[in-house]
Amino acid sequence: MDEIAPEYDVVVLGTGLTECILSGVLSVKGKKVLHIDRNAHYGGEAASVNLETLFKKYGNYSQGEEPWKKYGRLNDWNIDLVPKFLMSSGELTNILVSTDVTRYLEFKQVAGSYVQQGSGPKATVAKVPSDAGEALKSPLMGIFEKRRMKSFIEWVGTFDPKDSSTHKGLDINNCTMKDVFDKFGLENSTKDFIGHAMALYQTDEFITAKGKAPEAIERIRLYGNSVARYGKSPYIYPLYGLGELPQGFARLSAIYGGTYMLNTDVDEIKYDGDKAVGIKATMTGMDEMKFETKAGMIIADPSYFPGQAKVVGHVLRAICILKHPLAGTNDSDSAQLIIPQSQVGRKNDIYIACVSAAHNVCPKDYWIAIVSTIAETTSNHHLELQPGLERLGKIEEQFMGAPIPIYEPTESGSKSNIYLSKSYDASSHFETTTDDVKDIYRRATGEELKVEGLREGINVEQ
Ligand SMILES: *[C@@H]1O[C@H](CO)[C@@H](O)[C@H](O)[C@H]1NC(C)=O
Ligand SMILES: *[C@@H]1O[C@H](CO)[C@@H](O)[C@H](O)[C@H]1NC(C)=O
Ligand SMILES: *[C@@H]1O[C@H](CO)[C@@H](O)[C@H](O)[C@H]1NC(C)=O
Repeated sequence: MDEIAPEYDVVVLGTGLTECILSGVLSVKGKKVLHIDRNAHYGGEAASVNLETLFKKYGNYSQGEEPWKKYGRLNDWNIDLVPKFLMSSGELTNILVSTDVTRYLEFKQVAGSYVQQGSGPKATVAKVPSDAGEALKSPLMGIFEKRRMKSFIEWVGTFDPKDSSTHKGLDINNCTMKDVFDKFGLENSTKDFIGHAMALYQTDEFITAKGKAPEAIERIRLYGNSVARYGKSPYIYPLYGLGELPQGFARLSAIYGGTYMLNTDVDEIKYDGDKAVGIKATMTGMDEMKFETKAGMIIADPSYFPGQAKVVGHVLRAICILKHPLAGTNDSDSAQLIIPQSQVGRKNDIYIACVSAAHNVCPKDYWIAIVSTIAETTSNHHLELQPGLERLGKIEEQFMGAPIPIYEPTESGSKSNIYLSKSYDASSHFETTTDDVKDIYRRATGEELKVEGLREGINVEQ
C-alpha cells in the first residue's frame, strides 16, 4: 500500500471506465492522481463478473441451489454488466494507443456487425454493408436502391468538408442529412440503417437537424474505416472482457505515480466556500485506515454525488446465456446487432452485443448475448426488450434487473470543482462514453483532450 500524499492534483472517485480513462490520461500528462473506489473490485457499475456473482447479483435462484455449477469453471466466465465494443479507428482506440495502455491488453475483432430490417419472425438480419461491394450484395436493399447506396458510399469516401466541389452542390454546413440522402434518392429503410447502424445515432434527430451533415458523414466514414482496418466488423473487444480496461488503466496510472485504493469509503468532502478542496476517507478491510488529503479537483461517477446529478432515463438490459450463436449472424463467435427504433415501432434502438469463448469470456460452446434499450414505459419492460430477446432463440439463463437509472450531472463542475461523468447508456459501443471522457476533460482542464493516434502497437487477434 502506497503512502497517501497530503495533496493530489486530482482525486477520482469510482473505477468505471470513464473515470479510469481520465485518471490514466491525466497521470500520463503529469498530474498526481489518487483513485478511489468504495467497491472491492474495479469497474464500478461496468465491471465484468463471473457467473456465480451474476446469479447472486440478480438473485434468480432458490436458497440452497448453486445453478452456476452446471456451467463449467467459474473462472472461465467474465460477463460484462455493461457490454460495449470499441470502434477500431474510434477515439477510444486512439486514447488507448496514445497512452500506451495497450501493452496490458489484448484485443480480438468482433466477427460481425448486423442490423435488423422489419420486425417479428419475418424480419431480415443482415450484415451492415460498409463498402460499395457489400452494398451491391446486401439483402437489405432492392436492386435499384443497392446502386444508389453504392454511389452514396463512394461519395462518402471522397467527401472533404473543406472542398465544396465534393459537396454535390449542397450548402453542406447548413443543410440537413435529409437533403443529402435525397440527393442520392435513398429510401427511408436505407436511411435507417445508415443512421443507426453506421453513424450510430440513437434517435432520428440527425436527419432533420441543420448543420449536422458533415458530422454524420464523418461518422459513416469512421464506420467504413474501422471495418477496413481488420476486415470483419468495425469493432474490437478485449480478451477476458471489458473489466480488463479499467485494470489496464490502473496499471498505467500506477506507472506514472498514481495511487489506486479499492474498498475505500469517502466520509466527507472538504469545501472552501462552494469549492471542493479535499476528502476524508476510510479504507476498510483488514487494516482499516482513515486519511485526509487535499484535491486540486474531484472527478467522480454520479453515484458519489447523487445530489449533483439528475435522472434522464432508464436503461433496460437483459444478460442472456446461450448455447448457440446469434441467429442470422453466420455463426459468428461475436456480433453486434442493432434493431433501429422505427423497425419495431420504438423511439429508441435495441442493441444486442454477443460474445463467446473466442474472447475468453465464457467456456467453449456458450455465448453471452446482452440485449439493451432505453425504457419508454414505466412497466412492461420485458415487452420492450422482446424484439431483441426474440432474436436469441433458446435462452439457457436470463438475468434482468430493475431499470437502471441514467444520471447526468446538473452542473459543469466549474463552481463545485467536482466533475461528474454520465452513466453508461444502452448502446453497445463506446462512442458516447468517449464523448463523455472528452467533455469531462474539457470541463475540468479547460483544454481539449488531444490524442496522437499512431494506431500502431495495438494487439488485435484477427
Ligand atoms: C442557412 O440557410 C438559411 C436559409 O435556408 C439562410 O437564411 C442562412 O443565411 C444560411 N446560413 C448560413 C450560415 O449559410
Ligand atoms: C419516410 O419518412 C418520412 C419521415 O418520417 C415520412 O414523412 C415519409 O412518408 C416516409 N416515406 C415513405 C415512402 O415511407
Ligand atoms: C460466413 O462465414 C464464412 C466463414 O467465416 C465466410 O467465409 C463467409 O463469407 C461468411 N458469409 C457471409 C454472408 O458473411
